[in-house]
Formats: sequence, structure tokens, C-alpha cells
Amino acid sequence: MLIELDSDPAVMRYISGGAATAPEVVRESHLPFILAGYERWQGELGLFAAYEIVGDAFVGWFCLRPEPNGPRDEAELGYRLRQAAWGKGYATEASRALLDKGFTELGVRKVWAATMALNSASRRVMEKVGMAFAHTLPTPDDMQMVEGAELGGVQFEITKEQWEQQ
Ligand SMILES: CC(C)(COP(=O)(O)OP(=O)(O)OC[C@H]1O[C@@H](n2cnc3c(N)ncnc32)[C@H](O)[C@@H]1OP(=O)(O)O)[C@@H](O)C(=O)NCCC(=O)NCCS
Repeated sequence: MLIELDSDPAVMRYISGGAATAPEVVRESHLPFILAGYERWQGELGLFAAYEIVGDAFVGWFCLRPEPNGPRDEAELGYRLRQAAWGKGYATEASRALLDKGFTELGVRKVWAATMALNSASRRVMEKVGMAFAHTLPTPDDMQMVEGAELGGVQFEITKEQWEQQ
């Protein structure tokens, strides 16, 4: 499922410039990293697969995870959905649920999310869940081929206090 998701050029547009992730990279690098996260954060934080309630179709993944060696109370929100699942509000719905669980049950105090400046759908999700623009980000060296690389990235953030005041 992860290999198929990363094989759609539209999904990968603002991540790799459209190039698919090589299956061996998913198997030998991504999967061990994801599995190590379940150990590190006891399955509470990390990367989670999402499925439609009716029909059980794979929607994609969401993550709420700290840096591997960073503080546990600061986590990154991320999402990557199959194209068939776009435009239905799923990213907003699941991100809200993750923020709520993180802030109310898991002791998270701050969440950030980052995307390319040109990735309007991703930015819109961040805005809709109440995150605020924090600062720009330089485009990483391995993303210079991505459309809009010259515009760089953006980081959005929300604190537990801001979440509670919404
Ligand atoms: C980004 C992504 C997760 C959004 O998922 P989604 O379930 O379609 O998101 P939602 O339906 O919850 O909300 C999307 C919002 O963006 C808006 N949007 C979508 N495409 C847009 C575009 N090209 N320009 C401006 N706004 C756009 C939608 O209209 C909606 O806002 P609205 O409710 O105010 O109308 C999905 O497109 C995706 O997986 N993309 C590929 C992977 C990716 O880029 N991930 C983020 C990398 S950091």
C-alpha cells in the first residue's frame, strides 16, 4: 500500500517532484523507521494508516510524531492520501482528531507541520485545523527538483493552549 501510494506522480508532486519512491527504499528505510516509532512511542505517536469506515478502503497515512531524539511533547503532523480520497475533507477530519488526541490524551504541547509553499491543499488543511503560519523554510537539497522549489517551504504551528481556545 505504501509503495502504491508513493507511485502516484500527483501524490508525490510536492514531495519528490512526482518521482515514485523506490520499493526497496520503502522496504529497507521507511518501514523500519515507521516500526521503530511504534516501539519508541509505545504506539501512541507515530504514523497511522487511515481507512474509510464504510467499505474499509485505504485512504492513506497520517502521522503525529516527535523528532526521533526530540522532546516527546512536540510533534510533527503529516499526511499523504491516495488521490481517490482527496477533496472529501478526510485530511482535515483526521488531522483534527490527531491534534485532539495529542493535546488532550498524549501530553503533546506543540504541533508543527511543514510543506512546500506552493502546496496549497496542504497549507489549507493546516489553516482549517487552526494552525498558524510560523516561518518559511529553505528547500532541502534533495527537493530542488520539486515544482516551486525556488519558493521554499512553510511551517505552521499550534500549541495546546491555542487548540483549547478554538
Ligand atoms: C494535501 C492532502 C493531504 C489534502 O487532503 P484532502 O483530504 O483532499 O484535504 P481536505 O479535503 O481535508 O481539505 C483540502 C482543502 O484544500 C483545498 N484545496 C485543494 N486543492 C487546492 C488547490 N490546488 N489550491 C487551493 N486550495 C486547494 C480544498 O478546497 C480544501 O479546502 P476547503 O475545505 O476550504 O475547500 C492531499 O491532497 C494529499 O495527500 N496530497 C499529496 C500528498 C501531500 O502533498 N501531502 C502533504 C505534503 S507536506
